[in-house]
Amino acid sequence: MLKLHDINTYYDKSHVLFDISLTVNQGEIVALVGRNGVGKTTTIKTIMGLAPIVQGSIQYKEKEMVGQKSHKIALAGIGLVPEERWIFPSLTVQQNLLMGIKPGQYKKKVGQGWDIDKCYEHFPFLKERCNQKGGFLSGGEMQILSIVRTLLGNPDLVLIDEPTEGLAPMIVEQVSNIIKEINESGTTILLVEQQLPIVLGLAHRIYLMNKGSIKWEGTPEDLQERNDIRKKYLEVS
Ligand SMILES: Nc1ncnc2c1ncn2[C@@H]1O[C@H](COP(=O)(O)OP(=O)(O)OP(=O)(O)O)[C@@H](O)[C@H]1O
Ligand SMILES: [Mg+2]
Repeated sequence: MLKLHDINTYYDKSHVLFDISLTVNQGEIVALVGRNGVGKTTTIKTIMGLAPIVQGSIQYKEKEMVGQKSHKIALAGIGLVPEERWIFPSLTVQQNLLMGIKPGQYKKKVGQGWDIDKCYEHFPFLKERCNQKGGFLSGGEMQILSIVRTLLGNPDLVLIDEPTEGLAPMIVEQVSNIIKEINESGTTILLVEQQLPIVLGLAHRIYLMNKGSIKWEGTPEDLQERNDIRKKYLEVS
């Protein structure tokens, strides 16, 4: 579904991603892991057309995405749940949700995909608080609002960047369950996540990054067995 081939990304003269190649197959949850500053967000931004200078190829459903504007990439069916969540604090919960609807998406048949009623049905707290300003939500509620807003664009592939960052353990579990549910309802997911138990519980396959390169790939079972790899690239020494 998504294929990155030899991607190199630069911020001005600073070379940040080095020959990144990865694939995400339809139906999978693929996790991208690595310590702070290794280039996870830059990889997500590169896929979404938000990085300034990109060389290499990104094929999504066999179409080239490098060089496309990000709204075109979104319309092609890729949704982004950004690291900063991008909740508009002075807009209501409902107004925030409506921002997720993309023009032209009504080609999906009635009853298929996500609309505002289905969102409220699945996440009743959003309905209860639909007239409240986004800025008054807790961190966990903002994260769920950000995910649900992206779903309203009915993407086939969702890129989720560090959804559990800064959240209390109970909320972390809730967010993790939501990601699992979304995937089971047919949406493919590329997940950036630093909490290893979450990754091991959710991902079908894992790519491990260090200093702008992919250093290792495998299944959660493989990674559980590789103490050396975890120590070298993930654990804080
Ligand atoms: N806008 C920018 N301009 C210049 N350099 C940047 C920019 N954004 C990120 N970088 C640099 O690129 C490298 C990769 O950053 P990136 O945000 O992709 O890492 P990350 O793996 O997502 O880190 P974190 O876990 O902290 O979110 C870092 O060295 C960072 O300082
Ligand atoms: Mg990041």
